[in-house]
Amino acid sequence: MQLSPKYTLNNGVGIDVLGYGVYKVPAEDCANLVATALDSGYRTVDTAALYGNEEGVGTAIGNAVAAGTPREELFVTSKVWNTDQGYDATLAAFDASMERLGLDYLDMYLIHWPCPARELFIPTYKALEMLYREGRVRAIGVSNFEAPHLHELLAATDVVPAVNQIELHPWLAQTELRAVHAGLGIATQAWSPLARGAILNDPVLLELAARQGRSVAQIVLRWHVQSGHLVIPKASSAERIAANLAVFDFSVSETEMAAIDALDRGQRSGSHPNEVN
Ligand SMILES: NC(=O)c1ccc[n+]([C@@H]2O[C@H](COP(=O)([O-])OP(=O)(O)OC[C@H]3O[C@@H](n4cnc5c(N)ncnc54)[C@H](OP(=O)(O)O)[C@@H]3O)[C@@H](O)[C@H]2O)c1
Repeated sequence: MQLSPKYTLNNGVGIDVLGYGVYKVPAEDCANLVATALDSGYRTVDTAALYGNEEGVGTAIGNAVAAGTPREELFVTSKVWNTDQGYDATLAAFDASMERLGLDYLDMYLIHWPCPARELFIPTYKALEMLYREGRVRAIGVSNFEAPHLHELLAATDVVPAVNQIELHPWLAQTELRAVHAGLGIATQAWSPLARGAILNDPVLLELAARQGRSVAQIVLRWHVQSGHLVIPKASSAERIAANLAVFDFSVSETEMAAIDALDRGQRSGSHPNEVN
């Protein structure tokens, strides 16, 4: 069974380079699909309170542990939703997520969106710091933070986020933000790494995939890995789930990497972080 290589976060905690994302996985299918991912070799799962499927994630994790997979080998991320921002509300939202997940501790907890108009991401993050200090979560971080949000956060808090999870794929390369992350020691985790599937028809990628004898999804995921991104593709069939993890036995050449880098056109598949509140 192919496992993802590990990446060491800025606090020494290991996370899989490639994990399984469950946005839009229906609650009733989630336990089965996460079990399929774990059977395929995934060890990291990305969910959020918003996704409405934390119970399914927890069921699959619990079953895997009961069947002999050490809990320490598994890594579960969840996120505090926008309407739960604020110190006390975040602590309550964390408890509610843990209840749904049925876990003793969480591996990573993220602020889902900065929501600049709410002006609450600093007290929200201070709640994450408290949970981190109490040992209830092994790593804390953010999602969808732009550089000004990160600088404002760092000026007011103590723990440098382990991760900023952002929309990132060949059509949205996020070059400047990734450089900011590198300077601050924050890992870049790519959401919608396949641009929600839209990028799979890109003619340049189709040609590269044909030449390599790989799927376009595999070429794009390999580009992410070689670019140093953590990545959490979502898929709904056992075949696609397994194929998306099978990207550690080949490489994309420097010329091919450059051809994929050249596809950047600043095109989002989701919202701009300043517009979500
Ligand atoms: N922090 C945030 O704000 C945020 C926002 C969005 C997403 N996320 C996280 O990032 C994860 C991934 O992002 P995403 O789900 O938006 O998009 P994605 O992973 O870029 O794309 C998923 C889409 O691609 C299709 N797909 C996946 N593998 C494929 C393959 N091998 N061949 C053909 N089609 C394939 C899937 O189809 P099927 O499902 O039909 O197989 C699905 O429609 C989410 O699940 C979530 O955990 C976070």
